[in-house]
Amino acid sequence: MAAASLVAAVIALHDGVAGEVSDADALAITRAHCVMCHARKPTHPSFDSPPKNVTLETIDELRAWSLKMLEQVVQDRNMPIGDDMTEDERAMLARWIERQGSWKAK
Ligand code: HEC
Repeated sequence: MAAASLVAAVIALHDGVAGEVSDADALAITRAHCVMCHARKPTHPSFDSPPKNVTLETIDELRAWSLKMLEQVVQDRNMPIGDDMTEDERAMLARWIERQGSWKAK
């Protein structure tokens, strides 16, 4: 599938990101780059509520949004808005999403 091969390509380009990406790693990335907007109570001054109702505060929420995160962060690079996420962080998130295997079930 396109998503799977895209993730494989991203990961291949970033062999420096070694090993398994833990749930804690994934949460650390979304805490640093997403939850200022994607929280029940965003701290970002432009938002009073989570945009599109996407909250990324817990591991269950990350799992629920994993396909959309793949699309928004890895594929289309729309997210994070106004933030400089490193390529390694994108690759780590992609690797974590891949581990969920969520698209395989579709
Ligand atoms: C500065 C605020 C901000 C940050 C930081 C941010 N987002 Fe968003 N996000 C938005 C806004 C605004 C939208 C709604 C965009 C729209 O209306 O198309 C959105 C939409 C989304 C959507 C839903 C897209 C859709 O079409 O359904 C996802 C998934 C998402 N963001 C993931 C993330 C992830 C993952 C991160 C961190 C890597 C992140 N966002 C960081 C503001 C932000």
